[in-house]
Amino acid sequence: MNDKVERHYASRSLVDSVLAAVDEALPSQPKPTDLAPLDQFHAGGLEASRMLATLAGLAPGQRVLDVGCGIGGPARFLAETFGCSVVGIDLTAEYCRLAEALTQRVGLADKVSFRPADALDLPFDAASFDAVWTQHVAMNIADRPRLYREIHRVLRPGGKLALYDAVAGSGDPLFPVPWARDASTSFLLTPEALRTVLEQSGFAIVAWRDVTPEASRWFAARAGATPQKLGLHLLMGPDFRTMAVNFGRSVLEGRVGLLMAVAQKSTA
Ligand SMILES: C[S@@+](CC[C@H](N)C(=O)[O-])C[C@H]1O[C@@H](n2cnc3c(N)ncnc32)[C@H](O)[C@@H]1O
Repeated sequence: MNDKVERHYASRSLVDSVLAAVDEALPSQPKPTDLAPLDQFHAGGLEASRMLATLAGLAPGQRVLDVGCGIGGPARFLAETFGCSVVGIDLTAEYCRLAEALTQRVGLADKVSFRPADALDLPFDAASFDAVWTQHVAMNIADRPRLYREIHRVLRPGGKLALYDAVAGSGDPLFPVPWARDASTSFLLTPEALRTVLEQSGFAIVAWRDVTPEASRWFAARAGATPQKLGLHLLMGPDFRTMAVNFGRSVLEGRVGLLMAVAQKSTA
């Protein structure tokens, strides 16, 4: 299963080709957020990351773990804009290599680091982080009880999980979508089932926001737009346009919803 997910996200080496594309599109020293069309791999892009960080109340000096960090855009954003120190883990080793290279390029290597790892087996001691952040990753993970128990374990007492995920709506997604080419690696839960598994993993829900309307507007605004030079096609290949259109249609047809939530580990 993990191999299939990893191959979906990176079937070839990416570092040299993506750095060359960044240099061409941004010839002078890029700021971290200049990379947003390429490195914010979720519906709503950078503004969705800003909304989730605000909802979670992330603050300077907090130690944050980004589970399923992709190529590190959200981790760099949290470091630069919210003053956090961030560790990102991702199953896709090539994404971690590219995340390191892009972080060097924008001068944030002292605040952000990456390592390949499975979200179901986090390579950290208990109570290591003030906050865990995860966006558009759980859709690839069947064993949600284990995922949220692992996250709960690495959080300090009183620490918060900030999540932003696609949730099941009224039908199946229209495949291929950006997280899966077919149903064999797509595991959406309804909002009710997600809430139950979070609570059973020891969390108290402190914020719960259906952001499907915001995502619908974002997809509608992008429909038919000319693709940018910097974009997720550089990672996912030419099929990405079809995946993105299908994700948008799945949301607009009510098959898939988008949810942001903040869940807290008890202080006891
Ligand atoms: C759609 S991308 C989102 C990346 C990033 N969170 C963002 O929003 O920019 C999904 C990411 O989840 C990662 N992923 C999927 N299953 C995982 C697992 N079991 N453990 C760690 N990462 C996983 C993939 O490798 C991929 O980088």
